[in-house]
Amino acid sequence: MRIVLGVSAGIAAYKAALLLRLLTEAGHDVRVVPTRASLQFVGRATWEALSGKPVTTEVWDDVPAVEHVALGREAELVVVAPATADLLARAAGGHSDDLLTATLLTARCPVLLAPAMHTEMWEHPATRANVATLRSRGVHVLDPDSGRLTGADTGPGRLPEPAAIAAAALALVGEHLPGDAPAPPGDLAGAHVVVSAGGTREALDPVRYLGNRSTGRQGWALARAAASRGAAVTLVAANVDLPDPDGVEVRRVESTAELRDAVRDAAAHADVVVMAAAVADFRPAAAAEHKLKKQDGAGLTLELVQNPDVLAELARERLRPGQVVVGFAAETGDADGDVLAHGRAKAVRKGADLLAVNAVGGGRGFGTADNAVTLLDARGDEVGAASGSKEQVADAVWDAVVTLRARRDPARGATG
Ligand code: CTP
Repeated sequence: MRIVLGVSAGIAAYKAALLLRLLTEAGHDVRVVPTRASLQFVGRATWEALSGKPVTTEVWDDVPAVEHVALGREAELVVVAPATADLLARAAGGHSDDLLTATLLTARCPVLLAPAMHTEMWEHPATRANVATLRSRGVHVLDPDSGRLTGADTGPGRLPEPAAIAAAALALVGEHLPGDAPAPPGDLAGAHVVVSAGGTREALDPVRYLGNRSTGRQGWALARAAASRGAAVTLVAANVDLPDPDGVEVRRVESTAELRDAVRDAAAHADVVVMAAAVADFRPAAAAEHKLKKQDGAGLTLELVQNPDVLAELARERLRPGQVVVGFAAETGDADGDVLAHGRAKAVRKGADLLAVNAVGGGRGFGTADNAVTLLDARGDEVGAASGSKEQVADAVWDAVVTLRARRDPARGATG
């Protein structure tokens, strides 16, 4: 297969030499296209020696061959590792000021970018927006690993290991490295799942709303995990400031009414619905048409009405036979009972097949990286637990869903 390996100017460029080795040893025909600045890290001679092909950075080096068009057109796979913040910006902006960006514009094959940079650069809104733009155009952008960066600093921004990049890139064209097993179909293969994430906002007037602190990270982790386990995923996102996860259909909503419509619409065709969104229980009886003005010294009394309980409705109505309905319950202990006692009562009240009970308050839950949940069934009995990252919690939820689906349809147990 004809592969273009782009290399941009990050210290992790040295790892691209190992990636090149893996791809050529697997029998692929790899042209390395470094950016000018990346040659500061790894020189042309290394790329020419390892690929056995000439290496250029400019569109001017072999004008008769019209390389800037030919390379992209002929490539069957393009991988850029490392992809720096600058490379992402130039690719998102459609620039073509060197051979690599020109190739990215002409390539019609799958493209995988493996970003690596300092955490601050990765998390900067400009980079987030560029990644979202690229993903919305069908470019596959890996998330960087977390760990030790160039200096003593640690955080997200590390280039994933060369074998992981090679595996992810080759999987886009249905291939794998020799010795690697082909990716298993995944225990959610063939399932369509809907995940709601974030927090709904209810308008008070054109500029103000009632909302909550949910970041959507747990829902994002659930969507990513389901996609990597083979499901087709629809993510209904209420006010979440995160880029669309790879390979997931995202529907953005704001209010509870919009979230309810989007979830029910997708749920009509879904095997599993997970309500991870923090849904506002109340909304203003009427949103003011004009901005509310304060009147000298007077307070303001809001009249709120209850929103429909989307989860309870889904559990009651079962929009599709055999559908698994999962809820999340954010609880704090109080005088009436501890977190689990409230969770058990809610599991029974809501009637969902699974309820992931999450202790919040005191710095846990909303907006924090780590999480702990207990999984209860519809009777309130404990069927699982997980603590750690939101990814670990997500996997535990899907494990419980897979077990439940296998129990309902034993034929499915054979494949997971
Ligand atoms: N939920 C929902 N619709 C609502 C409120 C909540 O679908 N109007 C869902 C949430 O997405 C979550 C679950 O119900 O999956 C539990 O949410 P939580 O806020 O903990 O429960 P409440 O319904 O608010 O229960 P209570 O007021 O008794 O705490």
